[in-house]
Amino acid sequence: MPITNDGAVGESKKMIIEIRDVSKLYRLGDQNVLALKHVNLKVEEGRFMAIAGSSGSGKSTLLNIMGCIDTPSKGQVIIDGRDVSGQAPDELAEIRARTIGFVFQTFNLLPVLSAEENVEYPLLQMPEISRDERRERVRTYLGIVGLSKYASHRPNQLSGGQRQRVAIARALVTNSRVVLADEPTANLDRKTGAGILDLMQKINVERGTTFVFSTHDRRVMERADTQVRMEDGRIMKLGLKLPDGSWKFVHDQSKGEEGPEINPEA
Ligand SMILES: Nc1ncnc2c1ncn2[C@@H]1O[C@H](COP(=O)(O)OP(=O)(O)OP(=O)(O)O)[C@@H](O)[C@H]1O
Ligand SMILES: [Mg+2]
Repeated sequence: MPITNDGAVGESKKMIIEIRDVSKLYRLGDQNVLALKHVNLKVEEGRFMAIAGSSGSGKSTLLNIMGCIDTPSKGQVIIDGRDVSGQAPDELAEIRARTIGFVFQTFNLLPVLSAEENVEYPLLQMPEISRDERRERVRTYLGIVGLSKYASHRPNQLSGGQRQRVAIARALVTNSRVVLADEPTANLDRKTGAGILDLMQKINVERGTTFVFSTHDRRVMERADTQVRMEDGRIMKLGLKLPDGSWKFVHDQSKGEEGPEINPEA
């Protein structure tokens, strides 16, 4: 379905991901868990967005649905203008591979591969990319994350922060326009975590890559330019950072205000 009736959106802003009235029901034995309840969210290209909320509030579920790793029980997911709801798994994999990169809390690197082989891995799924171009891209992205000297190290020969840098390079190497990061700093000490955020922000500013990351940590939240606060499967607040560093909450259900459409431009 094409995007229609988008009146609430500023006409010049491009939405890279839109979540429309998405609910997610997990069935576990005879138990039902409604992990997301009528969630609406628009992610404008170029944002540096934090999704915050307590454990179990639905952050990972939302990120997985945004990244087409999981599908909604109800509602629509629109990636770069394409409605991906109801698409076949192989089509989803294609969209995911070419648009979206993932970074996980536990890095999820392949232990038997070196740093450069881990970064190269997603490119092996893209037959149109030649061996030379693959090499060149791997070199470029390892350089961007500051790991050129560690190309031949295996994950267990790297620190946590270095492993997460490899994961970021792997997320970017397919020229992803969005990186979805599920608690990317949670397994790192404070200083290393801050370094990872510095790197993500640098890539966001210099390359225009959109980042959406989840976190429990207030310091991490404060680094974002857009803040989504989740509670019990719902988006309770959506805040935008003002030039003076303070937050303006454009949508606030915690104060009883009903917002059917959550939109930074509203
Ligand atoms: N695969 C699944 N099967 C059943 N229930 C699930 C599944 N994944 C998540 N849930 C449930 O959905 C709810 C939201 O989980 P989710 O992982 O999205 O929370 P979260 O905000 O990421 O939490 P955390 O901060 O602990 O990572 C929880 O109640 C969880 O138990
Ligand atoms: Mg989670």
